[in-house]
Amino acid sequence: MHKRTLLQATAFAALLATGTLAFAQAAPFKIGLILPMTGQQATTGRQIEAAARLWMAQNGDTVAGRKVELIVKDDTSLPDVTRRLAQELVVNDKVDVLAGMGITPSAMAVAPIATQSKTPLVVMAAATSSITEASPFIVRTSFTLPQVSVALADWAPKNGIKSVVTLVSDYGPGIDAEKYFAERFQFNGGKIADKLRVPLRNPDFAPFLQKVRDLKPDALFVFVPSGAGAAVMKQFGERGMDKAGIKLIATGDVTDDDQLNDMGDVALGVVTSHHYSAAHPSAANKKFVEAFQKANKNLRPNFMAVGGYDGMRVIYEALKKTGGKGGGEALVAGMKGQVFESPRGPVFIDAQTRDIVQNVYLRKVEKKDGQLWNVEFDVLKDVKDPGKTK
Ligand code: DHB
Repeated sequence: MHKRTLLQATAFAALLATGTLAFAQAAPFKIGLILPMTGQQATTGRQIEAAARLWMAQNGDTVAGRKVELIVKDDTSLPDVTRRLAQELVVNDKVDVLAGMGITPSAMAVAPIATQSKTPLVVMAAATSSITEASPFIVRTSFTLPQVSVALADWAPKNGIKSVVTLVSDYGPGIDAEKYFAERFQFNGGKIADKLRVPLRNPDFAPFLQKVRDLKPDALFVFVPSGAGAAVMKQFGERGMDKAGIKLIATGDVTDDDQLNDMGDVALGVVTSHHYSAAHPSAANKKFVEAFQKANKNLRPNFMAVGGYDGMRVIYEALKKTGGKGGGEALVAGMKGQVFESPRGPVFIDAQTRDIVQNVYLRKVEKKDGQLWNVEFDVLKDVKDPGKTK
């Protein structure tokens, strides 16, 4: 035993002398951040890239003696491109971590690459429940649609809403939102008058909203991905839905902080449930919003930015835990169980599911100092994703 330690020490000294170890440690730690910088989800890419750069500006680009390099790639919101870029980043650039993933189909396309190459994949935006089950190397810092939809289905029947039509984008997160909202609302005695699904690409909401008008439910529940909310809000107003006595309720993706301030008074009073509001009243969030706006020509950060910012923290902390060494399995182990205060509130990464556990807030759109905000009025603490099968 003693002899072996001595031998190891001698080998270590020799390695140091030749400079091999020093060289190995000097190799940068590469994060391949794949985002939709153009195309339908471009605002998601812009928000997450800005947040990742803010994190690095505030926390430095050296972790445990290792230089961190961020490589940003634009997948144009197309999953086939995400897959190709992930392959190139792993094989050619030899990235230590993959991150980003603006939409669910992108995360699903990259999951097998993460598994085969044992590369951690930090999902900062996509929010279908099943994503974390697609690879043991996936860790999520965004949210899930079941997580945020259930709170609203509990709130609605207690607030005079007895019948609802659901309207969702026709893909993973929309189907999750529809299922978990409807099941919980019906469990609470509510009636679902219809379930409508609109295409993800270039949706025209007009015919769907006409149908809702004819059905005349107490409320319309909506999920559309970040960036599409303003169009829904505009057409909801133009068709006089609110005047016909139909309330709009939604996940916070619809009253997205990236767009909310430009939506106008039609958004006033809309109740949503979500995990992040730029108006979240904590010191940590005030500091985050101020710094983000200062670095980005006054752009207001949205929930995507927070997913990116926290994703960088999770990567930095994991790298620290490995003493700067990295390694796919060691990094994922270092990500599991992390507990910290995010701008959204307290969060932790569930070691079993690798998914984020966080508060879900009920919010109402209000005008303050001439600006529209999602103002939180109630909270469900430490919500796990209810969509997990295990
Ligand atoms: C997803 C994308 C979004 O922009 C969003 O707000 C929620 C979910 C997704 O594709 O998973």
